[in-house]
Amino acid sequence: SITRHYTFNIKSHNVTRLCNTKSIISVNGKFPGPRIVAREGDQVLVKVVNYVPNNITIHWHGIRQLKSGWSDGPAYITQCPIQTGQTYTYNFTITGQRGTLFWHAHISWLRATLYGPIIIFPKLNETYPFEKPYKEVPIIFGEWWNVDPEAVIKQALQTGGGPNVSDAYTMNGLPGPLYNCSSKDTFTLKVRPGKIYMLRLINAALNDELFFGIANHTITVVETDAVYVKPFITDIAVITPGQTTTVLLKTKPSIPNATFFMMASPYFTGLGTFDNSTVAGILKYEKSKNKLPLLKPTLPAVNSTSFVANFTKRFRSLANAKFPANVPQIVNKKFFFTVGLGTSPCPNNTTCQGPNGTKFAASINNVSFAMPAKAMLQSYFFGQSNGVYTSNFPANPPFAFNYTGPPPNNTMVSNGTKAVVLPFNASVEVILQDTSILGAESHPLHLHGFNFFVVGEGFGNFDPNNDPAKFNLADPIERNTVGVPSGGWVAFRFLADNPGVWFMHCHFDVHTSWGLRMAWIVLDGPEPNQKLPPPPSDLPKC
Ligand code: C2O
Repeated sequence: SITRHYTFNIKSHNVTRLCNTKSIISVNGKFPGPRIVAREGDQVLVKVVNYVPNNITIHWHGIRQLKSGWSDGPAYITQCPIQTGQTYTYNFTITGQRGTLFWHAHISWLRATLYGPIIIFPKLNETYPFEKPYKEVPIIFGEWWNVDPEAVIKQALQTGGGPNVSDAYTMNGLPGPLYNCSSKDTFTLKVRPGKIYMLRLINAALNDELFFGIANHTITVVETDAVYVKPFITDIAVITPGQTTTVLLKTKPSIPNATFFMMASPYFTGLGTFDNSTVAGILKYEKSKNKLPLLKPTLPAVNSTSFVANFTKRFRSLANAKFPANVPQIVNKKFFFTVGLGTSPCPNNTTCQGPNGTKFAASINNVSFAMPAKAMLQSYFFGQSNGVYTSNFPANPPFAFNYTGPPPNNTMVSNGTKAVVLPFNASVEVILQDTSILGAESHPLHLHGFNFFVVGEGFGNFDPNNDPAKFNLADPIERNTVGVPSGGWVAFRFLADNPGVWFMHCHFDVHTSWGLRMAWIVLDGPEPNQKLPPPPSDLPKC
């Protein structure tokens, strides 16, 4: 293994999309940002230099960060932001992971323009557990606003309403020909017949799960969240924000008489408005004639929850001798977390646009997480948690009701900066139950610092007497982001083998902003190699 060096210069540059030019914050003048490429086992150093007025942090989404929590990146959780003119070097080693991940800004809504792929190849002399692709192509989905996304979320949080939705989805930064004046801005993949292309699909969109498909072609799913899966064939993939899915596309044996759209459109079941538009790219066979019919894939309807559930169920770990699934069989810490939307009071002298004149809020176990003013990890490490956070995050919701039935009389959340403290190597089970309080909606929950095994999921209320007997403890999928089904629940397990402070939140940025987030603290173990080392000297200060 080797050390890979990157420099990320955070600057602004002008970008034109949908006939609208604006200045965006980006890395090295690129949108989407540059790729991080490494092999399993490599050390990665990324020197981030902030030249913009905004505070910045970068998160390496899905990287385990074993004992390198100082490099994880969520603002005020593991670090204070990198301020204007400051530099911070993220330093991590890729351990036991291979596949596709991504990096993104992890402060406010800057992820809208600050994101890029992370590609982890197998170790030297190791191969993929599937046919070697002829070419590898990252396809990263995003959302584009004609206005400044920072202004959108700021206004939404002030007035308590839902934020303005994006104006387009993008594929490698390009909206494609179904949007106004965007036919030039179309991602085109030129292919040869009879070859295997590996598409590394990444959903970096802020607020929308996406269906993706290619006209007249199937795809084979081989890896997700940097974990190989038992391959399966599908027409359509579903990818929640925060998930990555690597698929193989086998091209037709000879040049077909058509050109093919690859398209992505949203899956959404909640209340309110959302961006219901479609991004299209083009799959074009080299040397095919110019004027060919352009075929479209059939994507599921926007609220196709059953399609999503059936697709999700097909994911299985390889669970073989080379890639075992080390599912915790016995659990010693159990948590039941309700996740969903709620309300909070409207401040004096404000007209709020949320339900019944309140503000929208979101919570886990009715706690809407307030961001601390200092970084939790430093506070924890130096024993200075006083006034920063408390360690009493509830293991169960404060009241029981029919989570998928009518809303409770009081939909108000409580506020707090609370963490769960776990002993080193605790074996943890978490049930995430959608509350459906302001409408059933799926929530892509992302856990930092770990992969977890998704051992069960279902619709309706989780049944503690009958559902655990049906858990898959043999070959469940291992992930860092899981969609809590709309009007349902999901169960996952993980081993708390990574000391530090780890954020968990909905990867819909609007829900995170409303408070659907919390932190886990994993204590040091007794052995020196089970302890979090002290912070690097250039760690930013608040
Ligand atoms: Cu991809 Cu906490 O985020």
